[in-house]
Amino acid sequence: MIITGIVAGGTGSRMGASDLPKQFMELGNRPLFIYTAEKFLKQSDFIIIGMNKEWLKLAEFMLRKFLPDCQNIFVTEGGSDRNGTVRNIISFAREKLHCQGDDIILTHDAARPFADERMIGDSIAAIQKCDICTAAVPATDTIAVSGDGETADDLPDRSKMYLVQTPQTFRIGDFEEIYSSLSEEEKKTATDVCRLFMARGKKVMLVTGSPENIKITYAQDYHIAKFMAEK
Ligand code: CTP
Repeated sequence: MIITGIVAGGTGSRMGASDLPKQFMELGNRPLFIYTAEKFLKQSDFIIIGMNKEWLKLAEFMLRKFLPDCQNIFVTEGGSDRNGTVRNIISFAREKLHCQGDDIILTHDAARPFADERMIGDSIAAIQKCDICTAAVPATDTIAVSGDGETADDLPDRSKMYLVQTPQTFRIGDFEEIYSSLSEEEKKTATDVCRLFMARGKKVMLVTGSPENIKITYAQDYHIAKFMAEK
């Protein structure tokens, strides 16, 4: 079984003031989280969207409005951080959809509207040969490592640097095992699932992402996304 988990539990604080979080901003005449989720419809058995509690009802309303005929797409409550949202999505998959430990989940940021069929297909193919894989693209800028934000401690060889995107794909049983073994401190510091798996000695396989697979973080990203969606 292939499940897609759309993580949409954030508040979009870096976007600046708005009544609604960024996952509700309009893209292609529908809310961003729906635009993003639609990209996965063809290649998933189920799609589960993890949404901030405050916006759960509105998200359900939007789903019925924009995808009235889709029976395999659900909304559940997000967590206090990104990995907590992944955990809640997986709990929903277990409890409501009776998913098994070896079922595969593609987790994807609601804020990345331009995942494409090729990278989703490549992720599904790659997970047959590894414990976890993530979309990533070669870095085009040189990356500086800095502990204090003032001086560079290191400027690693750019040809070995990659920018990590989503989807990030793994088996739900592996996530449950790793997540339940984490200390509160580890939960706070690991910002994405790949880091959690890596901390437990798992190899993270890289799948070719795409420069178009941008994440809408700041207002200017939204302007670029609107332009790309119109194109
Ligand atoms: N996310 C989530 N649950 C959280 C926090 C984040 O599902 N508790 C999701 C966001 O909704 C987003 C993705 O993780 O789709 C990537 O996070 P980011 O771009 O940082 O989103 P926000 O946390 O909403 O943004 P900001 O950090 O600016 O507040």
